[in-house]
Amino acid sequence: MLAGKRILLIIGGGIAAYKSLELIRLLTKAGASVVPVLTKAGTEFVTPLSVSALAGVRVYTDLFDLTDEAEMGHIQLSRAADLVVVAPATADLMSKMATGRADDLASTLLLATDKRVLIAPAMNVRMWQHPATQRNLATLQADGVLVAGPNDGDMACGEFGPGRMAEPAEVLAAVEAALGTGVLTGRHVLVTSGPTHEPIDPVRYIANRSSGAQGTALAAALRDLGARVTFVTGPATVPPPSGVTVIRVETARQMLAAVQAALPVDAAVMAAAVADWRVANEGAQKMKKDGSGKAPALEFAENPDILASVARGTPRPRLVVGFAAETEHVVDHATAKRARKGCDWIVANDVSPATGIMGGTENAVTLITEHGAETWPRMGKDQVAARLATRIAEALQ
Ligand code: C5P
Repeated sequence: MLAGKRILLIIGGGIAAYKSLELIRLLTKAGASVVPVLTKAGTEFVTPLSVSALAGVRVYTDLFDLTDEAEMGHIQLSRAADLVVVAPATADLMSKMATGRADDLASTLLLATDKRVLIAPAMNVRMWQHPATQRNLATLQADGVLVAGPNDGDMACGEFGPGRMAEPAEVLAAVEAALGTGVLTGRHVLVTSGPTHEPIDPVRYIANRSSGAQGTALAAALRDLGARVTFVTGPATVPPPSGVTVIRVETARQMLAAVQAALPVDAAVMAAAVADWRVANEGAQKMKKDGSGKAPALEFAENPDILASVARGTPRPRLVVGFAAETEHVVDHATAKRARKGCDWIVANDVSPATGIMGGTENAVTLITEHGAETWPRMGKDQVAARLATRIAEALQ
């Protein structure tokens, strides 16, 4: 809830500006008061009238509105807020923020504010990926600016990729997290994600097809509810989320060490696809063909079970959640796994090739708890993550 909180909302000039109208509605519904500022370009996409009608107050568009200076000067306007939100944050606005330019009302407010700033970037995929924008993003993050999104998807310009503005509900969650009003504020949650790589010799390794998508989505969803997230990840193909502590590892044994170093935590969610076995006779040098036609014989040793060691170790998190990727008898196998590993919940899914789940964007899970099995409808991995994060928050109440 955002009762009594005051948000200065800067609406930049991009097609995603229409989403800022819904954001105003969600913020005010959550109890916040919204003071809207429209950039000149923003007025090309949404009208000052619709913005002020939704916010219930006047909208500021021009530095010289503040002849109004007598009423509220730009310094006061920038400081009276609890949080400054820029949505959509265009490439141009991000560039101005990164260089400290102040040539209109929005950029002047952003330079003058003494409050935290949250941006929701939105732009064409090439503009987002351009080294200049990525440099500006890194500068802004180093300055402590919080970032929500952007998401991947179809874009208004007909291209596909990262650059879509985060959905208004996601920006709302980021606002709540930034203001410390999220349901998981003050909680520390550990998430493991991605595959592990187990070396054969200095140049070769054994791996699996995990992309890290579900673990990454979970870390982002827990962060959005206000948790402090430690994200221990193997070499995943999807990038880690922003706003979490990322610890990169390669092998199962490195993952175990990183997990133990992260304790104590309130909850541990082990979504990593950890290799069960490592090569026991790992070559110190690259293994060579010797011309005899004889292939080298690899010997295997069992890896430590990270989930079981956390569930049975001390300090034990209040909630330990494991995953079970099965190809048959999903509920039976997952129920047995819950008992064997000593964890509280198992999130089970059917990863048989026909489901397309492994490496895909959707998941169909069954949650196994002490009360039995609960099958969720097939949905996006982001939605599974949001639902699971909400359940974790309830369990930690
Ligand atoms: O035994 P299985 O690999 O099916 O168990 C899957 C669950 O156990 C996942 O939550 C996974 O992250 C965890 N696990 C682990 N360490 C291992 C093997 C699996 O933490 N060595």
